[in-house]
Amino acid sequence: MMKMQKHIVAAALCALLAAAPVAAAGPAKPADQRAPLVLLDEERHLVLLEMRNFLAVLQTITDAITREDMKEIARAARSMGSGAANEIPPKTVAKLPEEFKVLAGGVHTTFDLMALDAESLADPKHTLVQMNELLQKCNACHGIYQIKVGRGAPSKK
Ligand code: HEC
Repeated sequence: MMKMQKHIVAAALCALLAAAPVAAAGPAKPADQRAPLVLLDEERHLVLLEMRNFLAVLQTITDAITREDMKEIARAARSMGSGAANEIPPKTVAKLPEEFKVLAGGVHTTFDLMALDAESLADPKHTLVQMNELLQKCNACHGIYQIKVGRGAPSKK
């Protein structure tokens, strides 16, 4: 073997040895450890659109609280209640885990209650208490799930 070739072999061996521990440890754990919801790109878009609508309505309600505009609070809250037209197609809903649906349902029913109480009690401070409950529900779900784009497993239905 020529001197130059020996050097190349030695360098290749060193590189292999250096890489070995990394390969043995397997792929690095992802930084984001929340459970992935695997959705198609357009499904992810619809879920995130609903999310941004949630945030927009919370802003509208917060503004209405500062003006003690109970009518506006009821209107805005109802627009996100369980009676509101659901933009998420059943095919996509079928891909979501049961716990996700329970958490999402809890948000819609809290909006229902907020609308009803804004009309019957007309107490902005009570609306604020409900706003806090609502935000806790938003945070609870955000701590558990993330959305990944992919084909995923075929839906159960
Ligand atoms: C049932 C679960 C769940 C609930 C409840 C929930 N979210 Fe989300 N939200 C998600 C998931 C999952 C994402 C995507 C997170 C990711 O992929 O990192 C998300 C993303 C978002 C985003 C980012 C949207 C974008 O365009 O990227 C906003 C804003 C948001 N949520 C607001 C809210 C608000 C406000 C509430 C409460 C009224 C709420 N969400 C309740 C699951 C939920």
